Amino acid sequence: MSVETVLITGASSGIGLELARCFAADGCRLALASRKGDALEALAAELRKAHKIQAQVFTVDLAHPDSPNRLLAHLQSAGLKVDVLVNNAGFGAQGKFVELPLARQLEMLQVNITSLTHLTRLLLPGMIERRRGGILSVASTAAFQPGPGMAVYYASKAYVLSFTEALAEELAGTGVTVTASCPGPTATNFGAAANMNTLGLVKKISMSAASVAHISHRAYRRGQVVAITGFRNQLPAFLVRLVPRAAVRKITRRLNNVR
Ligand SMILES: NC(=O)c1ccc[n+]([C@@H]2O[C@H](COP(=O)([O-])OP(=O)(O)OC[C@H]3O[C@@H](n4cnc5c(N)ncnc54)[C@H](OP(=O)(O)O)[C@@H]3O)[C@@H](O)[C@H]2O)c1
Repeated sequence: MSVETVLITGASSGIGLELARCFAADGCRLALASRKGDALEALAAELRKAHKIQAQVFTVDLAHPDSPNRLLAHLQSAGLKVDVLVNNAGFGAQGKFVELPLARQLEMLQVNITSLTHLTRLLLPGMIERRRGGILSVASTAAFQPGPGMAVYYASKAYVLSFTEALAEELAGTGVTVTASCPGPTATNFGAAANMNTLGLVKKISMSAASVAHISHRAYRRGQVVAITGFRNQLPAFLVRLVPRAAVRKITRRLNNVR
């Protein structure tokens, strides 16, 4: 079988960067996409050297509605057919919905939901035609409950989880698989980008980006539809189903440190 081509969005740091390392170790050809071209170039150089693979960089701002189409055009002119799409780019913002800038929240919806959906729709037909490959989308344990203090972010991740589970059913028997990875708190640039005032407890239970990426990559390779990373995250995601919804909202509000 020919070498797999893997497109990873948000590969310049954190979980996306570590996922690039996982797929590089498999010998895949990589297409690394995000806004920070320099960071992507440095990663591509490291991975070409370490794994003797091909890695190309695509500088793209997924907050722009036309970016998925432009990215596809660049991939096609580079002669790349994407076998695996890793929808990892995303960000959050902590604060009350009415107090956060509207533009930032709309950008979040564009990156976390619309571009993810758009890229998926552009790349799935080729995968189905070739009967190989799939999609690994990074959701979050935030997908399992409403998130006062990060309302739009939690809702965006609930979309990613629901969308992935629905697609998994639609794609059964096509040879194409989809996986939603649901990490809990992870030590990356996410907290700083979201302007988070995180509780000590949350910091203490944070996982490394490398562990999260390894679990997510393994789940994708196994064709698992939903992968919650680590027991410490699996337990609350299970308990949330048993606790009354009103209590879940109050607990999440406390954890998100909202006045
Ligand atoms: N860290 C956590 O606690 C945690 C928990 C659960 C889920 N997640 C999810 O994990 C994913 C990766 O986040 P991370 O924790 O690794 O944080 P991170 O280190 O801040 O990485 C975020 C990545 O997304 C890219 N990105 C952000 N805005 C973008 C845009 N407009 N266009 C293109 N790329 C953009 C960034 O690249 P550039 O800046 O180069 O554009 C960066 O590579 C996100 O979807 C996040 O929601 C994180």
